[in-house]
Amino acid sequence: MTTVRIQAGKRFVASIRTPGDKSISHRALMLAALANGSSTIRGLSDGEDVGRTKTIIQQLGASVVEHEGYVIVTGPEKGLRATSETLDCGNSGTTIRLLIGLVAGIPGLHHLDGDASLRRRPMDRVAVPLELMGVHVEGKGPTHTPPVTVAGIQHPRGISYHVPKASAQVKSAVLFAGLSATGNVVVTEDVRTRANTEEMLRQAGVSISSTDYRDGRSITMDPVRPKARDWFVPGDPSQAAFFVITGLLHQHGEVVIHPIYDGPERIGFLSVLERMGGDISRIPTAHGLEVRARTSALTGTSIHAHEIPSVDEVPALVVAACAATGTTRFIDMGELRIKESDRFAESVALARALGAHVDIDGDDFTVVGLGSARSFTPFSFAAPHDHRMAMSAAIAGFCGNGVEISGAESVATSFPNFFELLTSS
Ligand code: S3P
Repeated sequence: MTTVRIQAGKRFVASIRTPGDKSISHRALMLAALANGSSTIRGLSDGEDVGRTKTIIQQLGASVVEHEGYVIVTGPEKGLRATSETLDCGNSGTTIRLLIGLVAGIPGLHHLDGDASLRRRPMDRVAVPLELMGVHVEGKGPTHTPPVTVAGIQHPRGISYHVPKASAQVKSAVLFAGLSATGNVVVTEDVRTRANTEEMLRQAGVSISSTDYRDGRSITMDPVRPKARDWFVPGDPSQAAFFVITGLLHQHGEVVIHPIYDGPERIGFLSVLERMGGDISRIPTAHGLEVRARTSALTGTSIHAHEIPSVDEVPALVVAACAATGTTRFIDMGELRIKESDRFAESVALARALGAHVDIDGDDFTVVGLGSARSFTPFSFAAPHDHRMAMSAAIAGFCGNGVEISGAESVATSFPNFFELLTSS
């Protein structure tokens, strides 16, 4: 395990380019591998999670050629095929859940596994709809934790499926499995989650329509093989969140974030921070949203999980809440418990380590802010297998009074040069 010490930063005046969006990177690789012919992908994330997906599509028969700044993926004319090798998804929940759907339509047995963290994560949420499509999925115990075996078939059954708990990964697994289904696939969700799969399937020539209702969405897809095309991956908003918050919390903070993907389900954290009093500018560009943030005095607010679907940015927002004046309520945050670590417990531990008072009530918790990051206690934090907890601890130490992080190598799963960007301004 690697231990990283972050000192209190003297200033944070920086121009930050985040890695290519992780969700779009995984999907671009998978869609390119499914297509017949060559696709060029520019701006792919250089994190280990996306590297896992890149290796696995090659195990399934796609070719990947790396060039400076882009990769060329060629999907085999006759389609991907099963391999007896284990598909090692490492720490990546998106790799394993989307792939379980993708391999459902490739005849034969597929073996998927991952690291100690992934082996604790439930796969029943994707196994349930796939079984309804006639595809047998087997994992360990009642929640189907990895290793997982999928018995893929040429034509899974068409399905109309309501995703019971908002999850972009489950929605996407059903759509991927549906690409070779016997009939239409309809997926509904009560909370709109990131739309990357729908958007990208449409761009790859798949006939797919999407209708919003109340807070939810209904998606209908006609099965067809995706077409090869060129993909551009914009910057990752979830990674930008760490630097926007650093710009706001540091007493000498001023940050410019290069254009990021601006899907509404991904940038809810910006609205939350603006509501807390954050001095943030949003500048639309042809390649996504440029964001600027500077030192701000924040006040507490209430944050509901549906404002931050998938709750990826919540640990970083907990750090903002600790620096705010007043109380911040985090509501309906149960999904945090089944991420790369139990982020509910870890976020509470992080806030307490900084010296903030935290109360827990079921799936809600409240943080009483310390009024400024300068009041944070110097602390140490263990974040093995959880990149977002390690990065949240790092920005807290940098804006506050230092931190020692063990398990800091986890950051490489999504953002290999994160520490360098944080500490070199
Ligand atoms: C992702 C979905 C999210 C999120 C993850 C990426 C995706 O999980 O946590 O980082 O790319 O589909 P949910 O399935 O809980 O929405």
